[in-house]
Amino acid sequence: MKWETAITNINKGQEVIRGKKLSGLIKSSTFTETIFLIWQGRMPKPAETKMLDALLVSAIDHGTGTASAMTARIVSSAKNSLHTSLAAGILAMGERHGSAIESAAKFFVENKNNKNLGQTVKDLKDKKVRLAGFGHAVLTKDERSIELLKMAKKLGFYKDCCLVAQNTEKELKKISSKPLPLNIDGAMGAILSDMGFDHKIMKGVFIAGRVPGLVAHIYEEMQNDAGLRRLSEDEITYVGK
Ligand SMILES: CC(C)(COP(=O)(O)OP(=O)(O)OC[C@H]1O[C@@H](n2cnc3c(N)ncnc32)[C@H](O)[C@@H]1OP(=O)(O)O)[C@@H](O)C(=O)NCCC(=O)NCCS
Repeated sequence: MKWETAITNINKGQEVIRGKKLSGLIKSSTFTETIFLIWQGRMPKPAETKMLDALLVSAIDHGTGTASAMTARIVSSAKNSLHTSLAAGILAMGERHGSAIESAAKFFVENKNNKNLGQTVKDLKDKKVRLAGFGHAVLTKDERSIELLKMAKKLGFYKDCCLVAQNTEKELKKISSKPLPLNIDGAMGAILSDMGFDHKIMKGVFIAGRVPGLVAHIYEEMQNDAGLRRLSEDEITYVGK
């Protein structure tokens, strides 16, 4: 089977990524610039590097209580290898944690020209649809999103999708019983859309940012070696026969 790729070519010992020699990238490019190159097929402009870097920093960790960190640590505590625990942590991401970015971005793009956003949001809320990119289990406002949007404004990436995101947050505030702030998935989805990223690659951005955090959790679990993580029986209520 023939495979075609526009990503990497290795020829006579020379590795070329998206047309740039890897040996040259090692000397002159940062990791963030090279990530942008391999995903977008071109070198980033300085503002794009700064924005992508900030997005990756914002996703680096969100505590032991998150589904991904907790899962990674539990799997590590059962004496699995680092990469097995890391894979488990990534697999714990879903529409409610770490993977809402794609659906959020789709919603923002689809509603760029929606003159009745308030009604759309209300209709979805009435149908009990949870809008991706809003709400948080422990935060009533998300400082990460606030900082990222400030930076997007400064760097010229606050466009239609960021506006839809913030307007949706305002509409939700009018009709929700609890605060549903624009969360990190929502802010990332909006900014990446306004930077021209395809929603299909966005989960990858979140994962790329979060992997160092998960590695830190797994490494700490290995170093502390607190034993096998297990729910205590008094936290489990048997409701069967
Ligand atoms: C993140 C999340 C799971 C946290 O949930 P939570 O704070 O525990 O909220 P609850 O499940 O207790 O829901 C409380 C109420 O708020 C509503 N709600 C929560 N998030 C909502 C959202 N994104 N859109 C609309 N309504 C939402 C629920 O429907 C519920 O309403 P009800 O009381 O009328 O039934 C939730 O906000 C969510 O599903 N968000 C969308 C997915 C997302 O963006 N995930 C990334 C998180 S960083």
